[in-house]
Amino acid sequence: MIPAVSGPVNLKDKVIIVTGASRGIGRAIALAFFREGAIVVLVDIASLEETAHLMSCSDRVFPVSCDLNSPEEIKNAIWPITNKFKKIDVLVNNAAVVGSYGKELEDFDLEEWEKIMNTNLRSTFLMTRAVWPCMKKQGAGKIVCMGSIAGKIGGLFAGPHYCASKGGIHGFVKWAAKNGARHGIHVNGIAPGPIVTAMTVNEPLIKDEMIPLGRLGQPADIAETVVFLSSQASNFITGCVLDVNGGLLMA
Ligand SMILES: NC(=O)c1ccc[n+]([C@@H]2O[C@H](COP(=O)([O-])OP(=O)(O)OC[C@H]3O[C@@H](n4cnc5c(N)ncnc54)[C@H](O)[C@@H]3O)[C@@H](O)[C@H]2O)c1
Repeated sequence: MIPAVSGPVNLKDKVIIVTGASRGIGRAIALAFFREGAIVVLVDIASLEETAHLMSCSDRVFPVSCDLNSPEEIKNAIWPITNKFKKIDVLVNNAAVVGSYGKELEDFDLEEWEKIMNTNLRSTFLMTRAVWPCMKKQGAGKIVCMGSIAGKIGGLFAGPHYCASKGGIHGFVKWAAKNGARHGIHVNGIAPGPIVTAMTVNEPLIKDEMIPLGRLGQPADIAETVVFLSSQASNFITGCVLDVNGGLLMA
């Protein structure tokens, strides 16, 4: 049970699941939790070897291979974790894919729409649903979902599927926060602006000068916000989608 009133960050021995931990923001989140002494479950479809290696392959790190497009794989990934640790303190729904953009609506195909909606939005629902009974039983839990500035403004360099999936995540966060509150479950989102990762590396149009704080974001900028929203430091915050964008959007 987490105390009701906020206190300093203390994530030692908390069981924390991070999706999309193979690289980029997800890896930075996993490393930040590891630094805080948490037990970190890394989930990804891609190899988690390098991320685990950065944590010295510690016995506090558990890589789990899972295609978040598959409801079956999600179910099979979560139950052994619950079974092993008997608790799940934090879930970070971070994994996502982008997709094509910069063309007319009629040129977007259904296959890509479904892939992006399933990887980004449906997996957020499925992962949250999978940990919900455990968190309910505990009477405590923190869930952080990765939205995007694209879900708020319709994207700078993103297609309709990506923007819709991220806007959907923002709405889901609010529903889950309302319905989780009575069980002690906090649900929040983050809407990053442009962050330097493999997802954006081919976007030469995104420039430092666009950002009031004068630079693009780094994965650590998001990771530290996730730590805050996952800890008792944010015990009076639920249902928010926090803008972490260097001032690019002040909503
Ligand atoms: N980079 C940015 O500028 C930016 C901006 C706003 C929001 N975001 C969001 O932040 C999050 C992380 O972005 P990133 O830049 O680190 O992206 P990234 O592409 O570097 O990493 C995404 C991770 O998700 C994993 N993944 C993709 N499909 C998967 C699947 N089917 N099953 C399991 N894992 C899968 C990938 O293997 C990868 O490790 C995403 O939700 C993204 O939408 C990023």
